[in-house]
Parts: sequence; C-alpha cells; structure tokens
Amino acid sequence: MFEGKIKIKGAFRMKIAVIGTGYVGLIQSVGLSKLGFDCFGIDIDENKIKMLNAGKSPIWEDKLEEILKKHNGKNLKFTTNFGVIEECDAVFICVGTPQSSDGTADLKYIFAAAEGVKPYLKKNAVVVIKSTVPVGTNRKVSKILEGCNCDVVSNPEFLKEGSAIDDFFNTDRVVLGFEDNTKHEARDSMMNIYSYFYEKKTKFVITDWESAELIKYASNSFLAVKISFVNEIARLCDTVGADIKDVTKGMGYDRRIGEHFLNAGLGYGGSCFPKDVNALVKQFEENKLEAKIIASADEVNLGLIDNFFDRILKKLKNPEGKNIALFGVAFKPNTDDLRESRAVELINKLLKKKANVSCFDYVDGALKNAEELLGNKIKICKTVKETAKEADVIIIATEYSQFNDEDWGAIAERVNTKLIFDGRNILDKNKVVKYGFEYFGIGR
Ligand code: UDX
Repeated sequence: MFEGKIKIKGAFRMKIAVIGTGYVGLIQSVGLSKLGFDCFGIDIDENKIKMLNAGKSPIWEDKLEEILKKHNGKNLKFTTNFGVIEECDAVFICVGTPQSSDGTADLKYIFAAAEGVKPYLKKNAVVVIKSTVPVGTNRKVSKILEGCNCDVVSNPEFLKEGSAIDDFFNTDRVVLGFEDNTKHEARDSMMNIYSYFYEKKTKFVITDWESAELIKYASNSFLAVKISFVNEIARLCDTVGADIKDVTKGMGYDRRIGEHFLNAGLGYGGSCFPKDVNALVKQFEENKLEAKIIASADEVNLGLIDNFFDRILKKLKNPEGKNIALFGVAFKPNTDDLRESRAVELINKLLKKKANVSCFDYVDGALKNAEELLGNKIKICKTVKETAKEADVIIIATEYSQFNDEDWGAIAERVNTKLIFDGRNILDKNKVVKYGFEYFGIGR
C-alpha cells in the first residue's frame, strides 16, 4: 500500500466527486483522499452516507476503514447532495452495472448518474466512467452531457475484492480512454489525478473510449476462461488419475502462461466475472458475431457445482437429515460478499434435499450476510470446530489457505463421519488422510 506522507510531486490539489459508495466508488474516494485530493463520496442511500460520515464502512475490506477514519471529515466527505459537484474538477461515476434478465449490462444507474451530475458540472470538468460498461457507453454518456462543456473519460477499474486497497495503490496499469477531440484540460486533469502512479512507473494505456471499455471486459473474460480451462483439465485429471495441482504447477512455470488464476475448484463467482462474461457474449451478439470461447467459459463454470454436488450425493446417498459442515460462505476469501457465491449455491442445493447445514467463514461480515440471506435455515458458527461438530461431511467452498492450518486432529474427534469434499483443493490430502479422513478434491 502507499505509505508515508501524502505528497504528489507536481500534482495540484483537485476537488473530486465520486458517485457511488459501493466496492468501486468507496475504494476510489478513499484512495484518492489518501493521495491528497479533496474528495466527496456521493450516494443516494442516506443510511450508507450516515455510516460513512461516522467513519464506518458499509463493506468489509482490509485497510479500508483505517484510511477512511484518517481522512473522514478532513479531505474526504460523504454526502447525498449532488450540489457539491459545482466545486469539483472531476467526477468519477462508480455505480453498479448489474446483469439484466437477458444477460446484458443494465445501464440505468450509469445514465441516472450522468443526468444527476449534469446540472452541476463546472466548465472543463471531466466526467470519468469507472464502472464496467459495454462498448459504446462512454459515447452515450457524452451525448447525455452535451452542452456541458465537459469531457468524458473511460477509466475502468481492476480491483479485486479482498485486496482492493492494495490493488488501488499497486495497480498493474492505468487505462484511460479519450475521444479524439478531448480537450487538453481533461487529459491534464487525468494525468494529474494519476500522477502518483505515473511517478512510480505504473504502465499507462492511453487509448480511445471503445478500446478502454473493451480492455476491462476482455481482461475479466480472459481470466474467467483461464479458470474454466483449468477446471475442464481437472475433469480429465479425475478420470485418468492425474493431479491437477501438479499439472497447473508445470503449466504455470511457463512464463507465457503464468502461475496465477490456475486454481481448479468450484469455479468463479462474485459480482464481476459471471455478469461480465455474459455481458461480453451479448456484445458479440449485438454485433452479429459469436463468442464461442467466452460463452463456453460460462457453460463450464455453471456445470461445476452440479458435478461437485452429484459426487457428494453419490457418497452420502440421501442427504436428508445429514449434518453438513460448510467451510467458507463468501465467494472468495477476505470479503463479506456473497454475490454469486458457490457456497451459497451449495447451501441452497443441500437445503432442498433437507440436509442440516452449519457454516463458517473467517470474515464475520460474511457470516452476518449469510444469516441475513438464509435466515434460520442454516446454523452460523464462529469456529471450524463448532461447524464440524457431528458433521457427516465437511465441504470446503471458499479458498482460504487457513483451512489447511486448522487442527485437523481436533476436527476429526468431533465429526460423525470422517469425510471431506474439498471444493477448492486447499487441504494437504496426506495430512487429513493421516487423521482418518476420506478425501475428495477436484482433479486430484
Ligand atoms: C475480478 C477481477 O479479478 C478484477 O480485476 C475486477 O476488477 C473485478 O472482478 P473479483 O471478482 O473481486 O475480481 O475476484 P477474483 O479474485 O478475480 O476471483 C473471482 C472468482 O474466481 C472467485 O470466485 C474465485 O474463487 C475464482 N477463482 C479465482 C478460481 O476459481 N480460480 C482461480 O484460480 C482464481
């Protein structure tokens, strides 16, 4: 993370508004305030704004609240009042672009935000679209803002939940999409905002709106394809007796492939990959093209849970009345986010079969959200040992490496049946087998 005194060589202090206080907007406003800019976080949700003004973050993200508390009320303020935009040199639009029922990205919040800021934009202000938006959206926003004497810039975000603050300060690249006749004032403003990254020699990609928009979708979809590819290889491993862990290790040492995003398991979830893959497929369709590889990434991903669940059923026979210990509920480690969580999908399938489900996660907020989502249908536990009590099967659904370091001897003493389905290949198989567990991983 960026440590030390806020001082941007050559940068001038700007006032910046950030519309949206979700995962993207909040990290952006908090990050920019740490870099020394005067920021307003704007949201229409009064409760969120109240919480933020009290120094509390509505989402759990490592290091977020610490920086929030430090800058809150000083160079970082939260408000529902769009009027503050009159003072701002730049406005970041960081609202959600959820999936519509037909798979396309729903842009209603983007357009509402553009309409909302329009009356207040000062001369030469720059409106920056940070949300993930389909090709053509910056152009549409620019149409909405016609007559405002402002410029629209595409600047997609690449934050990962769970490490979003670190990702903000250590981003691999800054992507800026300008239109040909963007005024130099707007280009200067963007370079000023990102001068910290320029100085630390972060790679910049300066391009047009369409390419910038596509960089985001292509990146997320490529990673999704990578995960589905590995999961497909894992299926073959299961059948022929190869170990996917060794296969991916051997692949990853090839620098052209790279070692990241090669973990086989229950596949991808979260608020981005599933919706972005679908939205990109739709963009192909809208242009009378077919996205064969990208579409099959989604197809493979959707099949993983069914396959895993079938394997569990084969072993358990009838899950009715059986005690299931689920380790991990969030869609990935270090987040409270349950959106498109494979764990939640599994829970719903198990509940349908009338199983008793207990679950655990290392992030309290994830358990709180699970309680809110599933009410009294499941038992929320504070430790893995409590979760494992009288379990007929332990299922690992979120890739926390800490699960491997738990006291498996003590866990073995508590369960009814020593059976593990490791949906994330996290455990050292030999270790748990030593304690008498029967172990099933993915492609091992
Ligand atoms: C993603 C992108 O990584 C980020 O750049 C973008 O801005 C938003 O979308 P995020 O959804 O937060 O970030 O999580 P990420 O770490 O990318 O993981 C996504 C999903 O893929 C998780 O469900 C994770 O469990 C799964 N995954 C990841 C795998 O199954 N295998 C892997 O090897 C890596």
